[in-house]
Amino acid sequence: MKREQWGSRAGFILAAVGSAIGLGNIWRFPYMAYENGGGAFFIPYLFAMLTAGIPFMIMEFGMGHKYRGAAPRVFARLNSKFEWLGWFQVMLAAIIAVYYVAVIGWAISYFNMSFTQSWGSDTNAYFFSEFLQLGGDNGPSKLGSIQWHIAIPMAIAWAITFAAIFTGVKGGIERASKIMMPLLFLMVIALIARMIMLPGALDGLNYLFEPDFSKIADPKVWSAAYGQIFFTLSVGFSIMLAYSSYLPEKSDITNNAFMTVLINCGFSIIAGILIFAILGNMAHEQAKPLTEVVSSGVGLAFVTIPSAINLLPAPYILGPVFFFALVIAGLSSHISIIEAVTSAFIDKLNLSRKVAASLVCGIGFVVSMSFATNGGLLLLDLVDYFMNNIALLASCLIELLIMGWIIKLSDIHKHVNNISEFTIGNWFEICLKFISPLFLLVILGTNIYTTITEGYGGYSTSDLMMLGWGLVAAMLVSAVLINKASKNNTQES
Ligand code: ALA
Repeated sequence: MKREQWGSRAGFILAAVGSAIGLGNIWRFPYMAYENGGGAFFIPYLFAMLTAGIPFMIMEFGMGHKYRGAAPRVFARLNSKFEWLGWFQVMLAAIIAVYYVAVIGWAISYFNMSFTQSWGSDTNAYFFSEFLQLGGDNGPSKLGSIQWHIAIPMAIAWAITFAAIFTGVKGGIERASKIMMPLLFLMVIALIARMIMLPGALDGLNYLFEPDFSKIADPKVWSAAYGQIFFTLSVGFSIMLAYSSYLPEKSDITNNAFMTVLINCGFSIIAGILIFAILGNMAHEQAKPLTEVVSSGVGLAFVTIPSAINLLPAPYILGPVFFFALVIAGLSSHISIIEAVTSAFIDKLNLSRKVAASLVCGIGFVVSMSFATNGGLLLLDLVDYFMNNIALLASCLIELLIMGWIIKLSDIHKHVNNISEFTIGNWFEICLKFISPLFLLVILGTNIYTTITEGYGGYSTSDLMMLGWGLVAAMLVSAVLINKASKNNTQES
């Protein structure tokens, strides 16, 4: 069967950018920058982008293009011993996809509510008690019952993802990205143009950009910068391998990689400006210092921003535009995460795209319902912590060790230079063989150590063992078993 292909270079870049720009840019980056030294955070962030982000993206684009497959096939073609890493990455993508879609579901609900701000004035109580229906006895393993008002918007998000994946690379994913990305940029620019005029907005920006150089010596700041780069660029969990496997033979890999990384990181800064302009205005309206209103993650998007929207002029316009932008950013990433999984099944089982998409989205939908429950937020928080801080960093580190030290990274280097318009020098291999693995080793080691000694988020040991460590171990064991089974099959046939 001939491999599908992107219809145009712009289509590929928009899809890759659509994957990279997601919830991570809007709710994680602004707070991270603020908390880790403001303007000074850009030094570790840019360093991580240059030494890890760009070379990793070039490497993954080169691998997907050269070996023409989703992650398991790429690693199997490098050496059949390493197929397991591909399956580990596919499982990581599948797990991220089932909770990521829950947040998109919440954003769809909030989009709907934002026309009348029906979340009321106490947005904190509203989100946790009324919307999520989170009870005192709920926990990651005490989920309660399905909340249909959350399940239905999640089903809508799944339906859109399914439609894009089912239709195919060019007709579905590329077409969706060509509509979604320009729309997202337009909405964010329009929002900034309006917000920046509001009283207090510029004070908000001062908070974001004021450099605190004392933080530069703090290893936690570097860890935050490195950790963010892999998730935001969608590398290390099979997405960019699958996307680049659909590139035509003649493709300018280095240029495409530079563009994807720079547009994504540029967007993060723009999102930071937007969020801090909104927070600055809120602090001004409430006559409070900004430090009291700022928050991150779920709290930022579903508690702080709704209460800031309440204070805006024409909230019935600005509110829906903000949440629509969040939905679009989330959906285009969700499509890419699901494509990474679907494409692995197409490769492995020779399924048609339509069958593979139906299976992956059908099973994904059912599993994701565990996040539409009373305790769904707690389960999400725990699983997200382990996937982001342990599994993803481990996956990136192992990928770098395999590519840099076991397989010849110079083959990918040559391949990329042969087909790209501008060639890359030795810095590419130095970054991937030495600098990035070293940083990753220290960060991952610290994360594992602190999680073992201090736990996470106050969750019970049994929850941490089962849904954190247990889940990561289960992924690893099943990946190795699949690798074994496939080696046996190849030997028999
Ligand atoms: N790269 C995507 C994000 O940042 C997954 O949300």
